[in-house]
Amino acid sequence: MDRKSSSSRSGPVSLGFDPVGETPRDHHPEKAGSRVADEKATSVKLARPKAARDTFAFRLKPRDIKDHLDRFVIRQDEAKKVLSVALCDHFQHVRLTREGDPAPHYVKQNVLLLGPTGVGKTHLIRSAAELIGVPFVKADATKFSETGYVGGDVEELIRDLIRRASGDLYRAAQGIVYLDEIDKIAGRDAGGRDVSGRGVQTNLLKLMEDADVPVISPGEAPPPGMPRPQEHTINTRHILFIVSGAFAGLENVVRRRRGPEVAELPAEQLIASASTQDFIEFGFEPEFIGRLPVRVACRGLSADDLFHVMRDSESSLLRQYERAFRAYGIEISFNPDGLRSIARQAAAENTGARGLMTVCERVLRDFKFELPSTRIRELLVDGALVDDPASALARLLKRRPNRAKKGQDARAGGKPS
Ligand SMILES: Nc1ncnc2c1ncn2[C@@H]1O[C@H](COP(=O)(O)OP(=O)(O)OP(=O)(O)O)[C@@H](O)[C@H]1O
Ligand SMILES: [Mg+2]
Repeated sequence: MDRKSSSSRSGPVSLGFDPVGETPRDHHPEKAGSRVADEKATSVKLARPKAARDTFAFRLKPRDIKDHLDRFVIRQDEAKKVLSVALCDHFQHVRLTREGDPAPHYVKQNVLLLGPTGVGKTHLIRSAAELIGVPFVKADATKFSETGYVGGDVEELIRDLIRRASGDLYRAAQGIVYLDEIDKIAGRDAGGRDVSGRGVQTNLLKLMEDADVPVISPGEAPPPGMPRPQEHTINTRHILFIVSGAFAGLENVVRRRRGPEVAELPAEQLIASASTQDFIEFGFEPEFIGRLPVRVACRGLSADDLFHVMRDSESSLLRQYERAFRAYGIEISFNPDGLRSIARQAAAENTGARGLMTVCERVLRDFKFELPSTRIRELLVDGALVDDPASALARLLKRRPNRAKKGQDARAGGKPS
């Protein structure tokens, strides 16, 4: 298979390392998500590392990663560049170390990704992990508690990574852990959650740097047919941690520190310019924020950006709608007017690209209900339809009343007399 370059936009995507064992090839984020869930269900099987597995031929350059991300994620250029560099640095370091060229004083470049909801943070990380071909787990920081008794134990993250790598400890040891909602474990200014936030930060410290985690959690039975492995631990030295959060309220901390000169600046800009001191003031332990040296902010998406998300991203949700209607033999298409109208409404939701789905569901739900029971085979989503779906549906059904098979009662009720 082709492993040379990933710069071609349409060709097969090359992987960052030799694809030994199971390697994700499918770059559709929804599917990738479900795969994570599936693998969680299976118990850990410890793969015996073969000699062939012990290679990590990471050959990507930052621009390869950026080019790949451009196919799926619209805007966020700054974040894409910073991530591409951090990921390359990290995995080149892992490769060199595996090749016998250790760097004893290497400082891991864990990443802090800031930005509002639905603007592509998870999408970026997931797409990058798929390109590189390393196992990837995502969790919300809020699910952990200090003791691990009430909430989850942070070490479970590492064991999830092993499951994700189908038990291959070698691959798991160079995976990516992505922790969302990290701002919610800040001790202060975080809605009174300061009971265990700092404790969770402390627990994460060791993991983020260099810790040995038991492959099977203490107290848990080993997988069927498998004796409890005595010395089986996995080291986190080569596992990259990426954390993210919206950091609502951080702008006030920055304002307090920098005074009147920044009083008028928008929150987004202030959050993007937060310093280590601001994060400490926000409620992070210095040791915790200090282990996140790479920081970058994702920006909010405008209506115009949302238009491009639908039209240009390879992971556009339009593909999902085309597929859903195609299942009934109906070809749905969207014209630019329709897309602009959807984008405008979605921007008003203030949930980033997530708003697109909300609007599309609202606009198209009656079409999804009615059209499959008619003989209508085409649906054009234009501006008029998006702005007044009920009238557009009534017009469509009226045009072909006697060709409809079923559902006439429902339609008769909806039609003006
Ligand atoms: N910049 C973007 N380009 C293309 N698609 C995007 C972009 N931002 C978001 N999306 C789409 O919206 C969905 C939600 O985005 P994502 O999960 O990355 O949000 P997030 O920034 O992680 O938000 P949250 O903070 O709520 O977790 C994604 O599945 C993706 O399809
Ligand atoms: Mg997310």
